[in-house]
Amino acid sequence: VVITQGKYIASAVKKDQYPERELPEVVFIGRSNVGKSSLINSLTRIRGLARVSSQPGKTQTINFFELTAKLRDPESGEEQGRKDFYLVDLPGYGYAKTGKERRKIWKKFIDEYLLTSPQLQFVCQLIDIRHEPMASDVEMFQWLVEHHVPVLIIATKADKIGKNARQKNIAAIRRALGVKEISILPYSSVKNEGRSDLLDVIREILV
Ligand code: GTP
Ligand code: MG
Repeated sequence: VVITQGKYIASAVKKDQYPERELPEVVFIGRSNVGKSSLINSLTRIRGLARVSSQPGKTQTINFFELTAKLRDPESGEEQGRKDFYLVDLPGYGYAKTGKERRKIWKKFIDEYLLTSPQLQFVCQLIDIRHEPMASDVEMFQWLVEHHVPVLIIATKADKIGKNARQKNIAAIRRALGVKEISILPYSSVKNEGRSDLLDVIREILV
């Protein structure tokens, strides 16, 4: 998969602000500062597409990015045409400085979005590879599972730990989420590690 084009298309806090065009959607969710916006920039190779900040709480709305992918069968190398889709960046959850009221409002519009979006394909839930998932991560994961939203767990900032710690920490994430079998994709937006794996998963939902 090659991303040939990408642009910011809309920000929304309610339904009538979602983009008009219906396209398959891949969504990024996770705690503030976990690296959602950075991952979108790394995946698309478009610097500055999503706003990144070292201060948690940067993304405050549901942000839609419209991408065009040129598809190619990984086995035969055969061209499979172009497909448009959305990457969707969400505000982070679990950030203490975001006031209680605001968090409530966010939760409401994020839940509404996740439950009603007609073309949502799967949610990438990002968890920092360095830390045990927190209660808010586990709650989010369980909420997604309960509501039958397909989830891919991505362990972010993989460049920040060594190879040994990595396997150990991934096992700890699996344990904390209470699932034995789930595959967890390590990702580094600094090194673009995990990028081609994630693009392969996206290809599957587009062909
Ligand atoms: P909110 O919008 O506040 O919810 O945060 P976010 O999840 O979008 O995080 P963002 O992408 O803005 O990144 C937060 C910080 O982590 C920034 O300082 C990034 O440079 C850094 N960061 C993100 N991904 C990586 C990564 O893979 N490796 C390293 N070393 N740093 C990263
Ligand atoms: Mg962000």
